[in-house]
Amino acid sequence: MNKTIKASIAGLGFGVPDRVLTNRDLEKMVDTSDEWIRTRTGISERRVIDKGMGTSDLAAKAAVAAMKSAGVKPEEIELIITATSTPDMPLPSCACLVQQKIGAGKAAAFDLAAACSGFVYGLATGEQFIRTGFYKNVLVIGADAISSYIDWTDRSTCVLFGDGAGAAVLKPSTDHGILASSLGSDGQYADLLTISCGGSKRPASHASVDEKGHYLKMAGAEVFKLAVRGMTDSVTEALSRAGVKQDEIACFIPHQANLRIIDAVAERLDLPKEKIFVNLQKYGNTSAASCAIALCEAVEQKKVKKGDKVVLATFGSGLVWAAMVIEW
Ligand code: UT7
Repeated sequence: MNKTIKASIAGLGFGVPDRVLTNRDLEKMVDTSDEWIRTRTGISERRVIDKGMGTSDLAAKAAVAAMKSAGVKPEEIELIITATSTPDMPLPSCACLVQQKIGAGKAAAFDLAAACSGFVYGLATGEQFIRTGFYKNVLVIGADAISSYIDWTDRSTCVLFGDGAGAAVLKPSTDHGILASSLGSDGQYADLLTISCGGSKRPASHASVDEKGHYLKMAGAEVFKLAVRGMTDSVTEALSRAGVKQDEIACFIPHQANLRIIDAVAERLDLPKEKIFVNLQKYGNTSAASCAIALCEAVEQKKVKKGDKVVLATFGSGLVWAAMVIEW
């Protein structure tokens, strides 16, 4: 591993579906209210794919935008990592479908499953290939179409999620880039957030459909508490590994699941509101895409400047959490 080479984010892009589903729309579908959703989560609307679309469509859109912003051609991409829990289908991988759609014919491609933490896990994985000199252009995508797994009669979950994708092109740099990360997981909490059927253990059957086994189920309150702890601890560890102090953070990009979770993490880390980037009001929780879209919008809105220390923090099913410190 060459310690003088860092993996830097050379370009970012995102893609969301055109269809907007507002809290008012949900009021007509389940026993909920715009007021409840906004005060308990901060979400006002989310994007949802149309029938016939898949995660790879969103991922490809994000990838094309990221390559354009990095000034990299599809044939220059050497590796595509697509972090997703909702690939178009079990086989082939979503990464291979993205490869086909963007024309990155020379790349190796694979999917990475770390739920909502997938984008940061993907960046940390891509970073290893860059720092060893193995690859010079790595495309990392966080993409999910969770709406395909939502029970639209379950108010405890259907108001929370949205579809989207965000992508980054990693390149080697000698002066800036990823400084450190902290990746964690605890499988003893696996039951708290699941889609239990449709895999090898319980493949699709009439019984699995009848018992709604293909829908996402979540123990929200338990996940909430563990999310606050997991994100706070991983940020603390990543900062310490990077040798960066908490007051040096210029922009904090948390997983966009719930504004109350973000506020609780910010309070524990003693971070002022103006340093925290929030866009969940527009997109809800887009799972692996969440942090990626937020980072992309933060850069577009000039909340991140050259030399800034940016911190990403994520949390999701597994349970899996991650944080990363990046010098921009
Ligand atoms: O990205 C993966 C990680 N996921 C997360 O980070 C999500 C973590 N959890 C959460 O964000 C929150 O726990 C939720 C937003 C899911 C729920 O908020 P909460 O404050 O924990 O509410 P609760 O589940 O304790 O429910 C409070 C009440 C219940 O009614 P009763 O039992 O007090 O009468 C629920 O039935 O709110 C009710 N409720 C709703 N009411 C209106 C639950 N969902 C809704 C709804 N509209 N959509």
